[in-house]
Amino acid sequence: MKGGVTLAIETSCDETAVAFVSADGSILCSEVASQIELHSPYGGVVPELASRNHSVDLHPLIDHTIARAEVTWSEIEAVGATSGPGLASSLLIGDTTAKAIAVALGRPFYSINHMEGHLLSPFIGYNSIPPHLALIVSGGHTLLVRVAGVGDYEVIGSTRDDAAGEAFDKVGKMLGLPYPGGPEISRRAAYGNPDAYEFPRSMIDSGDFAFSFSGLKTSALYLLQKLGENPSEAVINDVCASFQEAIVEVLVGKAISAATQFSNQLIAVSGGVSCNPKLRECITSAAEKSGIEVKLALPDYSTDNAAMIAFATWQRSQAGIASSSLATDINPNLSLAKTK
Ligand code: KG4
Ligand code: ZN
Repeated sequence: MKGGVTLAIETSCDETAVAFVSADGSILCSEVASQIELHSPYGGVVPELASRNHSVDLHPLIDHTIARAEVTWSEIEAVGATSGPGLASSLLIGDTTAKAIAVALGRPFYSINHMEGHLLSPFIGYNSIPPHLALIVSGGHTLLVRVAGVGDYEVIGSTRDDAAGEAFDKVGKMLGLPYPGGPEISRRAAYGNPDAYEFPRSMIDSGDFAFSFSGLKTSALYLLQKLGENPSEAVINDVCASFQEAIVEVLVGKAISAATQFSNQLIAVSGGVSCNPKLRECITSAAEKSGIEVKLALPDYSTDNAAMIAFATWQRSQAGIASSSLATDINPNLSLAKTK
């Protein structure tokens, strides 16, 4: 008998995910049914395909996760689901299913902001969330956030155009690499020379915490035109390393100056791009030099997953934050600023 278990569902984009958190906030089980192979031929997520596959995959995945977690329905005390930001038709599948389960069990339902899930993910397994500076780098967002505690967030910087992950994916596509480009670029970058080509460090000296990554795409396009058709594997690896270096330098530079300006002793990094080994290495060493502690989301909890949504649900209920009305709608453009 486990008791006090939290169930959460995440279907904001192309991963169908289900997870359980136990009464002490630790992850009991976290399962993801990836649709990467399905969308790969299109070089990006096709919303219509994503939602139809969530609806096919979700119910068997819930049964599978319940069995793996060795949980019974009556042990579930709270149910959470991602309500945005994301693709409307995808969000609706997880949100509606979670609401139906909450109603059937007579348990509270929590509408969770996907970005709050990422933001809290470095602290999975921890009881409380210390004040810190959060860097969230995903496929859709690049955010710097001052965090006072659960539900108390101030966004101090975001991207003016493309997100960091989006830039990785678009440049990956230009290089003819498999979708998504981020993991493939970081794998190849390990064999390349980061000083081989020059990429702009956009807005590095802007004096604020805004980002801009769309110029990188244009630079990559011009560079590839100059390099001609069919560049060698070694040249592609050099492009990957140089491009990655530019993104990482800007992310690390801005995160460290924000933490310094706001006297934060802790930086927490999350989102799919936080899987990037170069980013992990550079932010750790830069923070160490500035006497700042770093917490990185574990790679399994960096890319989209439901463990972070279950953990956010658990954190909110622990913090005494009210559950959500069943009439709460999904919101594809949900902002983190409106989380409290
Ligand atoms: O957080 P996430 O799974 O989904 C969103 O909420 O967007 O992030 C996905 C993004 C993709 O753009 C992917 O290319 C990027 O994370 N990504 C990486 C790496 N692994 C995933 N980017 C750079 N290096 C990686 N190793
Ligand atoms: Zn995400």
